[in-house]
Amino acid sequence: MKRSPKFDNRVGYIIYPAAFKDSNDDGIGDIQGIISKLDYLAYIGFDLLWICPLFRSPMDDNGYDVSDYYQIDPRFGSNEDLKTLIEEAHKRGIVILLDFVLNHTSDEHPWFQKALSDPSSKERDYYFFRKGRREGDKLLPPNNWKGFFSTSTWEKVPGDNDDYYFHIFSKKMPDVNWENPALREEYYAIARHYLDMGVDGFRLDALAHLAKDTSFASSSLPPDPEGLVYDTDRFSNRPALYSYLREFNDEVFSHYDCLLVGEVGGNLTPDKALLLSDFDTGPIHMVFNFATAWVNGAFGSLDKKDEDIRTDVIALKKEFLKWYQACSARSDMPLYWDNHDHPRALSQYGSILYREKSAKALCNTLLFMYGTPFIYYGDEIGMSNVTYEKPEDFFSDVGNHNETDVLRARGYSDEHITHYLNRTSRVNSRTPMQWDKGQNAGFSSAAPINKVNGNYLEGVNVADQIDDPFSTLRFFKYAISKRHDPFINELVQHGKFEILDMPHPDVFAYTHDGAKKLVVITNMRPYTVYFSFYNNFSDILVHNYGDVIFTNHVFELRPFETYLLLV
Ligand code: BGC
Ligand code: CA
Repeated sequence: MKRSPKFDNRVGYIIYPAAFKDSNDDGIGDIQGIISKLDYLAYIGFDLLWICPLFRSPMDDNGYDVSDYYQIDPRFGSNEDLKTLIEEAHKRGIVILLDFVLNHTSDEHPWFQKALSDPSSKERDYYFFRKGRREGDKLLPPNNWKGFFSTSTWEKVPGDNDDYYFHIFSKKMPDVNWENPALREEYYAIARHYLDMGVDGFRLDALAHLAKDTSFASSSLPPDPEGLVYDTDRFSNRPALYSYLREFNDEVFSHYDCLLVGEVGGNLTPDKALLLSDFDTGPIHMVFNFATAWVNGAFGSLDKKDEDIRTDVIALKKEFLKWYQACSARSDMPLYWDNHDHPRALSQYGSILYREKSAKALCNTLLFMYGTPFIYYGDEIGMSNVTYEKPEDFFSDVGNHNETDVLRARGYSDEHITHYLNRTSRVNSRTPMQWDKGQNAGFSSAAPINKVNGNYLEGVNVADQIDDPFSTLRFFKYAISKRHDPFINELVQHGKFEILDMPHPDVFAYTHDGAKKLVVITNMRPYTVYFSFYNNFSDILVHNYGDVIFTNHVFELRPFETYLLLV
């Protein structure tokens, strides 16, 4: 679907509410905390917020397990607080996307409780209940599928029965049955409720999985050591997904001026992305996928050495280009380096040894590509991965907890697991936002859920950077102001995009050719490299070093040096 002009030329910001700002010192970030930072966000230039889930939840998966879609979780505030947030954001020209979880509820949601207690209730068919397999006197789950959080996709229903329910995430997150029209109506009503309240749109969580192979036949792919099969095609991007969303669009979305960003994880092809987001025929506006995350090989790197983790710059460029070529003429696209499901971008593609230079380089490289950029909270001050000491430090992520159980049972040492989690865990990106040098980095006076990253004492905080014109934060502000410039925006959105020198193994460079040429050149390495450039540039719009080294049409690029040029 084509977005309305209201959403053009915006720069997004992703907030993980529990870790952003705590207003009442209980150690949990909240809506009043976000409200108190709206002036900050507007000052830096962010004008589109995606806020991770705020609804009532037992927090098994930090809010992605919703037990009441109509109530704000008391940890985050009240329904009134949400209304205030919307009003205050709108006063500042900021639009708000809520994170809307459609694939599952909490097991504590009244629908699921009813489904459990009364098998003849209409809610029973809101979920997937199936009989287990009997092998002799052993009862086994209905099939061999493995879910995203290292367990079987089936959990036994308590009591004297053979019943199991289906869940692709944690066992406290039963999947809902989109084949059921009454269930779909429930979600339409929730969406209308928030759009009527003034919310500007949604990030649609785990969207790829709404349709499953409901034959629930076991997979014949090779099993893991526990006998489970990780065959995500059985519950990802299946044909019925597109008809569900078309109906959602007809019933709800097409009646509002809203922005819809679908999250579809990995394994998506551009043609399927277009089925969702095509200007003319797609039911939503843009699709987040994980194609440009992990191009340093850290994903699944349990048995890799540190030396084997290295950004494949050519692969990264190819991935951006592939999606651009397939989708840009027919769809809006989001741009991002990281979010709450990934480690910090700076630790992936940048370097803590060149924190400021690499944070700036990543910002500049992302910001000027075609699409709507989304910056993850804290990246604007150079936040990076944690260095925790034991697997338990990561257990606020139920996925990490389950995975640790499996790895310990397979014989991995805690030291090995900790090293791996420090590199890959989602908790890396869920630590408190670093506001100043005060207690817990100014996030809260109470202990936060995830320990604060100690680097807030070394300048990685807002207060130290906001008045320093050479800081990472001020660079973001300046680069975002360029991104918002209508002339530049026109080049970015409509100029002809090309990667420059694709085979260069270290430099990420591209151009948009329109009324003028806009050029980004970034050294992605922590050492000096060279880059040939045969144009004369008229202006250096953005740069992260004090002087320019350009001789005989060759740039000498120091560690993570980045340019935005006008030719
Ligand atoms: C969210 C995750 C969450 C999962 C289950 C994902 O796509 O981004 O944080 O764990 O959906 O809701
Ligand atoms: Ca709080």
